[in-house]
Amino acid sequence: MDTEVISETEGDQRGHNRLIRVAVAGATGFAGQELIRLLARHPNVTITAATASQATSTPRRLPSLAKIWDGTVVPLNAAAFAADAVFLALPESASAEIAPALLASGLRVIDLSGAFRLRNDAAREKWYPATKSLPAGVAYGLTEFESDAIRGAKLLSNPGCYPTASLLGLLPLERAGLLQPGADIVIDAKSGISGAGKAATDRTHFSENHGSVAAYNPFGHRHTPEMEQALGRGVTFVPHLVPLDRGILASLYARLVPGTTAAAVTAAYERAYAAAPFVRLTGDALPEIKHVAHTNFCDIGWKVDEAGARIFVVSVIDNLVKGAAGQAIQNFNVMFGLDQKAGLL
Ligand SMILES: NC(=O)c1ccc[n+]([C@@H]2O[C@H](COP(=O)([O-])OP(=O)(O)OC[C@H]3O[C@@H](n4cnc5c(N)ncnc54)[C@H](OP(=O)(O)O)[C@@H]3O)[C@@H](O)[C@H]2O)c1
Repeated sequence: MDTEVISETEGDQRGHNRLIRVAVAGATGFAGQELIRLLARHPNVTITAATASQATSTPRRLPSLAKIWDGTVVPLNAAAFAADAVFLALPESASAEIAPALLASGLRVIDLSGAFRLRNDAAREKWYPATKSLPAGVAYGLTEFESDAIRGAKLLSNPGCYPTASLLGLLPLERAGLLQPGADIVIDAKSGISGAGKAATDRTHFSENHGSVAAYNPFGHRHTPEMEQALGRGVTFVPHLVPLDRGILASLYARLVPGTTAAAVTAAYERAYAAAPFVRLTGDALPEIKHVAHTNFCDIGWKVDEAGARIFVVSVIDNLVKGAAGQAIQNFNVMFGLDQKAGLL
């Protein structure tokens, strides 16, 4: 392949097959390792830096990625990034601190945390208090619905994992005017344990989780305002932890405008995703987590009741791929004018 490492602008000017320089902060985490795994074989990218926290000053290797990416992970030092774009797979407080400085030095930033997802100041202050303000040029990265904003974004705020699965299942219906105004939408979602990051807690360590299923944070999860922002209406969201390493299954229950036909629902989904390479519509063959594990696909199936009054939707993703690293790379591809599928299919 005729490639060389040159800056984005230089590459465009010279018309070369360019390699975009990317750095990954948080490379020792679950989402960060998935980013490295995918970026290492991305045809238009070279990884120029990968960082962990300052907790240890010793450079580290990633054993699970040996012979995929044999670089060294070093402690985070924002000043040291020689890159065109930086992926932040950090706790949101660290993202909130570092992103403005990276933007100021001209880098494009793809943030996987929740730090920059909420546009309303009061909501952001409540759920993400470390974020002092929303920088200019921020876009919410639900790729299938926001590609125009993503293209020009300086700071890409990648959606949460639960919102990705839930919104992809609900937005086509809401936008087509098929959901009954004012009626409750119930989002009952199950997540594998990697959704909580690599540090074990009382709730997530093996002996607590193995052989059990637990609901948590009803009415109190910070992904609720994110989903309500995108849908423009309230939702009842209850997340659950299930003993899987990865994957999210969102069961979505909603009231339809009376008399809605199954054909109208199918048409709404097909219209919304006609050009979407990573959404697979399965109709009444309801999808499962195993169908999407380790992929960037979101599979969506549904059933309309006989009266055309209620709909049940199932939406499944891999939380670490479409719910984090994969969608981040999909957004990066859109930001840099690449094929959306590059490095992902
Ligand atoms: N897990 C998911 O399914 C998922 C899905 C969507 C979005 N996200 C978001 O993505 C981000 C990363 O999630 P994760 O699950 O990958 O977390 P994680 O497994 O806990 O990894 C966190 C990473 O950040 C580094 N780090 C921690 N504190 C830091 C600091 N103060 N400065 C610099 N680096 C620091 C850690 O380095 P050390 O190894 O040195 O600790 C590690 O590399 C979070 O904001 C999360 O909300 C996660």
